[in-house]
Amino acid sequence: MPALGYHVDGFPIPVLVTGDALFAGSIGGCPTPARYQLALSRLREVLAPLPDETLLLPGHGLATTLGEERVANPFL
Ligand SMILES: [Fe+2]
Repeated sequence: MPALGYHVDGFPIPVLVTGDALFAGSIGGCPTPARYQLALSRLREVLAPLPDETLLLPGHGLATTLGEERVANPFL
């Protein structure tokens, strides 16, 4: 089952509910190397146009921002 995220409109800053796709400092587990590569490429593609102030709400752990993850998350 692929991980899903939701981009929520209507707030002063972009909000992305990342579920199990992206956590503060990590990403969700992938069952195969091919799925891992797909997850990395899709995350980079989806996140690229979003600004640093985008609020990320993972399914586990602390909320973070895209700017923080661009600096500290080795998967991005
Ligand atoms: Fe989960």
